[in-house]
Amino acid sequence: MSGGKQVLLAEPRSLCAGVRRAIAIIDLALEQHGAPIYVRKEIVHNHYVVREFQRRGVRFVDSEQEVPEGAVCVFSAHGVSPQVRQNADARGLDVLDATCPLVAKVHQEARRFARDGRTLLLVGHADHEEVEGTYGHAPDQTVIVETVADAEALDLPPDAPVAYLTQTTLSVDETRDIIAVLQRRFTDLRGPATDDICYASQNRQDGIRAMVDRCDLVLVVGSTNSSNSIRMVEVARRLGGRAELVPDVTHFDPRWLTGVSTVGVSAGASAPEILVDQLLDRLAELGYADTSVERVATEDIMFSPPARLTGVADVP
Ligand code: F3S
Repeated sequence: MSGGKQVLLAEPRSLCAGVRRAIAIIDLALEQHGAPIYVRKEIVHNHYVVREFQRRGVRFVDSEQEVPEGAVCVFSAHGVSPQVRQNADARGLDVLDATCPLVAKVHQEARRFARDGRTLLLVGHADHEEVEGTYGHAPDQTVIVETVADAEALDLPPDAPVAYLTQTTLSVDETRDIIAVLQRRFTDLRGPATDDICYASQNRQDGIRAMVDRCDLVLVVGSTNSSNSIRMVEVARRLGGRAELVPDVTHFDPRWLTGVSTVGVSAGASAPEILVDQLLDRLAELGYADTSVERVATEDIMFSPPARLTGVADVP
């Protein structure tokens, strides 16, 4: 029986360049400023990362208004609105910006399209911090589009000057469907070359797509508030696979393995590799020790922390 049990391990998986940079910024800030330092929102959407930093004296707050005047305050990888920056300036906070450069690029696009007088159609989830931040760059000109139905229901004339932007961690397929509706409905539509879904989200979804047919069960390591991890589970399910989100090994239920020969394992861009290793150890204990790597891409992108922390110039 154990001869048929195997694990397909997706590659790339786990931390992306933006998350690595955000984590490095806090590490360097702790080293150079000492605890406590403050972080607005979860630095990345992973409970393990947040708990580890809390242990080292990082205080996570919901708002910049909760940070004592003059203290070090890190903005999370998901980015912030200009209003948040103004509030932080007004409090004299020593800001370190961990916004992922790929999110900052979307902010730039938002400002450019808004300056051109376009209504921004922001494809994404209204309650996600990244969307709140992007929305805040042109709040009077932005409409959030969450679904194909929202795109169909937009109350704008067909020749209205509009532009779309997308959250970086969306499902590639769903986003394509929404953009297709916008392209059909609006004659004066601008947007990025394809969408703003980042390379890491794309690669992790591609990894799931490439192996789901050969897996009886797909496990995605990621927190319940991690957008890109949730999308990976959805991709597997949409293709007819069985898939579960596993925040960490304590949430793994061995009963899921009943009748399962091949388990696919991957991890969202905010889930550290240690959580994958713990899951693989548990699977090995249960007889799934035969592991082979399934690579769909090679990632060599790196984002440097701000020069003031590293002493070297930024490399975007
Ligand atoms: Fe950036 Fe994409 Fe990671 S937007 S933080 S590289 S998931």
